[in-house]
Amino acid sequence: MTKYATDVRIKLNNGLEIPAQGLGTVPPDGHPEAVKDQVLAAVKAGYRHIDTAWYYGSEKYIGQALQELFKEGVVKREDLWITTKVWPSYWHSPEKSLDTSLKDLQIDYVDCFLQHWPVCLHGGADGTPAEPRNDQGGLDYDDDPVTGTKFIDVYHTLEDILDNTNKVKSIGISNYSIPKLKQLLPKVKKHVPVVNQFEYHCQLPQKDLTDLCKKHNIVVIAYSPVGGPGAPVLKLPLVKKLAEKYDVSVNEIANAYHILEGRVSIPRSSNLERIKTTTKLPPLTSEELKELYEVGEANPTRYTNDEWGFGLGFRWWKGDVLSKEFD
Ligand SMILES: NC(=O)c1ccc[n+]([C@@H]2O[C@H](COP(=O)([O-])OP(=O)(O)OC[C@H]3O[C@@H](n4cnc5c(N)ncnc54)[C@H](OP(=O)(O)O)[C@@H]3O)[C@@H](O)[C@H]2O)c1
Repeated sequence: MTKYATDVRIKLNNGLEIPAQGLGTVPPDGHPEAVKDQVLAAVKAGYRHIDTAWYYGSEKYIGQALQELFKEGVVKREDLWITTKVWPSYWHSPEKSLDTSLKDLQIDYVDCFLQHWPVCLHGGADGTPAEPRNDQGGLDYDDDPVTGTKFIDVYHTLEDILDNTNKVKSIGISNYSIPKLKQLLPKVKKHVPVVNQFEYHCQLPQKDLTDLCKKHNIVVIAYSPVGGPGAPVLKLPLVKKLAEKYDVSVNEIANAYHILEGRVSIPRSSNLERIKTTTKLPPLTSEELKELYEVGEANPTRYTNDEWGFGLGFRWWKGDVLSKEFD
């Protein structure tokens, strides 16, 4: 019998269950409104998890889709898992960022609220500009990205929001490297993050970071499961071979790589047909999962190399002039 990735749930350290395949909502260039149809297509195809963020600029359109889905009776609010995130330039006011997201999404709580990056940028009261620049053209930081500790205060604010409001069901982190996670964990007041979201696919080995998360009962959410634009992961001969063997799409192999190992996968697509047909879970063997992992070990490749990731201690981060531990 066909098994569906969209039916799988993973238990979090707070007892809640997160759907193992979510829909990513970074919009296609210049077209945030396109995300409305993507959400409608995904939910009607069985997805129950939507991953978004204030930074993506698509929350208003997700809100419109949700209203339609609720009115048509396709799903109820409690059937969905919705994650949003506070961006580094909004680090000083996470609850204000959350309120903006909730208003745009037209809902009164999110299932998970993430700190988008352990970085503090010099944004104004409304979080803008999201990528502030100094006179030299570099990022304008409010705290040193290598030695600063304000990012921990941001996590504490998320804990306070969880404890003192009904606006979030759980809290988590994103783009936390091993050094940043090791700094945060002893300082957690009460709520260990339920998830850590970072780039992960079979071209990028992440076993050491995943093991650290596992040790602390933090579920890994893999972003860029096909490697982002151009979908380089899907061109790998091994991925194509497995898709043929199991009679599924290459996208379904890329998601199964995570879900079968207890990780969440959050692909995105502007192709509605692709969204609708990327739902199956092929039963890859442990030997096949190992072979896929070895592709990245042989030639590690990271596709997200944003400047705000400099200094966090991630390996293979192209252009990182701040992290010293790794090449
Ligand atoms: N926390 C963070 O900092 C962070 C960072 C990055 C992403 N994310 C989250 O993760 C989600 C997904 O990440 P992503 O957008 O980087 O990665 P992705 O899902 O790995 O890649 C999406 C890209 O792959 C293309 N694609 C997919 N299947 C294809 C196929 N069969 N043939 C050709 N092209 C194909 C899509 O094109 P089409 O549109 O044509 O399908 C799209 O351009 C985001 O939307 C966001 O929610 C989070």
